[in-house]
Amino acid sequence: MDPLGDIYRTHTCGALRRDHVGQEVVLLGWVHRVRDMGAVIFLDIRDRYGVTQVVTEAEPLLTQAKKLKTEMVVAVLGTVAHRSEETANTKLDTGDVEVRIGQLKVLNDARRPPFSIADESFVAEDTRLRYRYLDLRRQRMQKNLQLRHRLTMAIRRYFDDHDFLEVETPILTKSTPEGARDYLVPSRVHAGEFFALPQSPQIFKQILMIGGLDRYFQIVRCFRDEDLRADRQPEFTQVDVEISFASQALVFSLIEPLIVEIFRVAGLAITTPFRQMPYREALARYGSDKPDLRCGMDIQDLGAIFAETPFGPVRDALAAGGVLRGLVVPGGATISRAEVDKIVAEAIEMGAGGLLWARQTDKGLATSAKAMGEQTLTRALEVSGAGADGLLLMTAGPEAAVSRLLGQLRLSLARRFDLLDQARFEFLWVVDFPLLDWDEQARRYVAMHHPFTAPVDADLARLTEAPAEITAKAYDLVLNGSEIGGGSIRIHDPEVQRQLFRLLGISDEEARLRFGFFIDALEYGTPPHGGIALGLDRIAALLAGEPSIRDVIAFPKTAAAVDLMAGAPSTVDARQLKELHLKPLA
Ligand code: AMO
Repeated sequence: MDPLGDIYRTHTCGALRRDHVGQEVVLLGWVHRVRDMGAVIFLDIRDRYGVTQVVTEAEPLLTQAKKLKTEMVVAVLGTVAHRSEETANTKLDTGDVEVRIGQLKVLNDARRPPFSIADESFVAEDTRLRYRYLDLRRQRMQKNLQLRHRLTMAIRRYFDDHDFLEVETPILTKSTPEGARDYLVPSRVHAGEFFALPQSPQIFKQILMIGGLDRYFQIVRCFRDEDLRADRQPEFTQVDVEISFASQALVFSLIEPLIVEIFRVAGLAITTPFRQMPYREALARYGSDKPDLRCGMDIQDLGAIFAETPFGPVRDALAAGGVLRGLVVPGGATISRAEVDKIVAEAIEMGAGGLLWARQTDKGLATSAKAMGEQTLTRALEVSGAGADGLLLMTAGPEAAVSRLLGQLRLSLARRFDLLDQARFEFLWVVDFPLLDWDEQARRYVAMHHPFTAPVDADLARLTEAPAEITAKAYDLVLNGSEIGGGSIRIHDPEVQRQLFRLLGISDEEARLRFGFFIDALEYGTPPHGGIALGLDRIAALLAGEPSIRDVIAFPKTAAAVDLMAGAPSTVDARQLKELHLKPLA
């Protein structure tokens, strides 16, 4: 039976205002709150659009309303009435009015929810994810998903306005190398063969350029079986872009206004052009290829000042070709000694051999390394900008380790001393990445981005001579320390592509097996091209002010890569396994 009968919604629960006073209306929604005052009962009725107060003091409605429980689905037919100034609720858009109930109909009963929908109190994430359908009713998720929708609509409008075509690429496909493990799908029809879910549409979007599509975009799900964190999901969404006849400057000039538009839709104004910084500079100054630029605290090389130091650990590190680097905690001159000791302990836990510190106090110079000499330390305080009120922290050792450690410490201190302004958005293009990275374990080179990234023209000739020194036409877009996008200009010359596969230790034979179709395609007149992919979940989370991308995804997986609500992954029956030519685990 149709529970609605001839009941039609006239207004949403967010619609009614003073203008509607006197009108007969029908609201459909969930019982959000019940306030039973004995002789009168107030109910808040909720839907996606808002909350409206409805009220009755008349029998038999009063008795009927008293039986209602939160989260039941109801129809309220009634008359809009004015609320007096004392009873008006300024927190609600509909707070000037209420609906005097004429008729009440329960459309569906509801079990008692395991947590309150109305009060947005803390609920353990596992519980939220298990009962995601209830969590989705809460304002936080409603707001986040509405924001995400507005972002994707703005993105589609932007690309359409700029002649991009949205093209869907396959989900059941072949391995696409982005550095993670593949999710595999066994083929029933071809025994022993597997599809891979795409880690990204990289090869397909390049083939679309070869296919003459000129400008492509797609808001697309990607799949990567990797260790999860707050900003990583096994399936996530990219805003994927590819452009024919593109230079790095052209890509930036198309992506920056898109980001401006995305932020405008979220109610935020940002300015372009974004800063650009070579990879090596980012590592040296911030100990990271995705630096958070909201807090200053640049890492500084202080080796020259202490070149003659008699202090053993530093002297030995410098003599061994290492570095002495430091950073200044602004205002750190006045933090307690116990706090300074905690910072030192933290650095040691992060792997530092030791952390030296120095600062000016009322009683003169205070330091953990007197042996470095008062005069030299005073000079270091001046040169580093610590002056009279900063705390200078220093560590010595091999360059890569010092850089990584100070980068990590910088972020941790910035958080601890609340130096990261949440309302600030610091964008940065990190450019001039190395093409290759040496994988010590595998004892071979791996692509820093992916194997389709082009070397800079000046390095083309020495590709095989000095692989470690080759710079790539690759770029990442970083926002407040989070990598929100990455891309490159691609190799369009089949011979260079073959060379690169060889450099990566992929034999011609293996390359043919894995990417033969792509190398063939490259031979048929490939336009120079390039592109980028933005991490939509990360952008949405930053704009929503959420610490985890799980809060901007309707149905995310946990950190252990499971869907708690659906109970996936799960076992399948033996018959299904057999059909797929798989053997059950013993
Ligand atoms: P990349 O691997 O850098 O590039 O991915 C692009 C962006 O996608 C986001 N991202 C993720 N978000 C959530 N969970 C994950 N597991 C995850 N992995 C990546 C990041 C990242 O910057 N094909 C290339 C792009 C190109 O060259 O055009 C690619 O996929 O924000």
